[in-house]
Amino acid sequence: MYNKKVMEIFQDPQNVGEIKGASGIGTSVDEQCGDIIKLYLQIYKNIVTDAKFKAFGCAGTIACGSVITELVLNKTVEEISKITSDEILKAVGGLPKQKVFSSIVARVAIDKAILDYNKKQLKLLKSKNKKNTKKN
Ligand code: FES
Repeated sequence: MYNKKVMEIFQDPQNVGEIKGASGIGTSVDEQCGDIIKLYLQIYKNIVTDAKFKAFGCAGTIACGSVITELVLNKTVEEISKITSDEILKAVGGLPKQKVFSSIVARVAIDKAILDYNKKQLKLLKSKNKKNTKKN
């Protein structure tokens, strides 16, 4: 059912785990099958310097979670926002028709991690502005 590449990644997924104090965290859930990918991104000067993931689900979802941690590495936030589910599918060598949704779950995890990063950046900016206003 799965190709050789998916099975290899599934048996030895890369970058499993979490990043404490991550710049952005995104959790994506497939409402139908309940598959989950939680992506942690460390971002420094707008570049992804580290990425880890945790996943619950089928081999396809685990494989997609693993490849996105590699696809986002050393890329800018703008670049990772443009990664498509097709690129994720390609990176795992394709998925059976009924498992293609794993690549979308992974894609959404990236979006949500970016959203979380942007929210945190905004909060930081606001607190900096507040401090500057108090000084003046
Ligand atoms: S079990 Fe539905 S995509 Fe994994």
